Amino acid sequence: MSTSSNVAPNDLSAFWMPFTANRQFKKAPRMFVAAKDMHYTTADGRQVLDGTAGLWCCNAGHARPRIVEAIANQAAELDYAPAFQMGHPKAFELANRLVDLTPDGLDHVLFTNSGSESVETALKVALAYHKVKGEGSRTRLIGRERGYHGVNFGGISVGGIVTNRKMFGTLLTGVDHMPHTHNLAKNAFSRGLPPHGADLADELERIVTLHDASTIAAVIVEPVAGSTGVLIPPAGYLQRLREITKKHGILLIFDEVITGYGRLGTPFGADYFGVVPDIMVTAKGLTNGVIPMGAVMVSADIHDTFMQGPEHLIEFFHGYTYSGNPVASAAGLATLETYKEEGLLTRGADLAPKWEEALHSLKGLPHVIDVRNIGLVGAIELQPIDGQPTKRAFSAFLKAFEQGLLIRTTGDIIALSPPLIISESQIDEIVTKLAGILKTLD
Ligand SMILES: Cc1ncc(COP(=O)(O)O)c(C=O)c1O
Repeated sequence: MSTSSNVAPNDLSAFWMPFTANRQFKKAPRMFVAAKDMHYTTADGRQVLDGTAGLWCCNAGHARPRIVEAIANQAAELDYAPAFQMGHPKAFELANRLVDLTPDGLDHVLFTNSGSESVETALKVALAYHKVKGEGSRTRLIGRERGYHGVNFGGISVGGIVTNRKMFGTLLTGVDHMPHTHNLAKNAFSRGLPPHGADLADELERIVTLHDASTIAAVIVEPVAGSTGVLIPPAGYLQRLREITKKHGILLIFDEVITGYGRLGTPFGADYFGVVPDIMVTAKGLTNGVIPMGAVMVSADIHDTFMQGPEHLIEFFHGYTYSGNPVASAAGLATLETYKEEGLLTRGADLAPKWEEALHSLKGLPHVIDVRNIGLVGAIELQPIDGQPTKRAFSAFLKAFEQGLLIRTTGDIIALSPPLIISESQIDEIVTKLAGILKTLD
């Protein structure tokens, strides 16, 4: 047994790292010790260009003064206030700011501490909404193959990534999945939205025919599936999903944990696609990744449906000790202010043409079977090594890290999502380094 007295200061064994090959990592650890703007500093003093905004979350770059200061001040002024039956001004202020920012029709906010919790919150709101409305038979939840909605039980049930699901029993019952939209045969090297596949939304009609609309509560999708390798929706697909869900009284949930807060060059994916969901799930960029926080925006109809019955009774039995935590709320407000001051929620649109050109210059290099892009997101899909899936992309990741560039890989896909403060020359740096790496990969 370890005690504090027998653990060496830099012993790596105690921390069981998330989504990491622990034994491999601990043999050759990759440590960051500092970060500023577009760069991380490694333990051995090297600068690493952040090509992934941390984990899709540091949209304004690192150690931004306004956010750092807001957190320090808030911790000193009001560190914590009970989240249930008590309030503090900044949580209300942040909710108001978010409602102003989100598309019209999303008027109320529930706070959480992560993307995963935001997903659970959204699914529970959807189920309870139908129940309160007197349509309690609507209990089914529909997700999509290759969807990622965090790691809690609701999220992995509607999610569609087999490795995240197969160890954990029967998951939620009454869940069905639409097919994913990834189609290399028809859409490889599309720029922006792929042209083929809008008809895949009609699979929802098939599911409705199978189960009947009266049993379905909600459909949840990421506007752009991020963690599964940047799967961009075919042109017209999300609009079609909106039509079908509306027709059948099914709630549409957009999981905007990645697409929210400027990633696509618009404040939210809903703005990019001109499709307003009934519920929007966010986290990550809400606080620039600095303090854990998520926010779930819901329509007035959903909110108002709960606001009935005796006023002294709790309307929705759900919430977290840290829902709307004061320090997180302060971080959120300072983050939104930083985005506003620097125009970051739309800067991705200005950079998108340059980003697209730069990424697609990698077409034709060894192993590259697809390049895709939208806003400030990109993916380079590699041909897997026979019998050793994921290995080729992971060695690209290791080489990039050695050469001072942080990328992210999932399967054999390299995903890129730099902070929205990136310069054009830093875009060139990412692509030049990647081109060099691709030429040297086995
Ligand atoms: C679309 C989506 N939903 C949910 C999550 C889960 O967020 P968290 O890791 O904060 O729980 C993620 C994380 O990458 C995500 O991309």
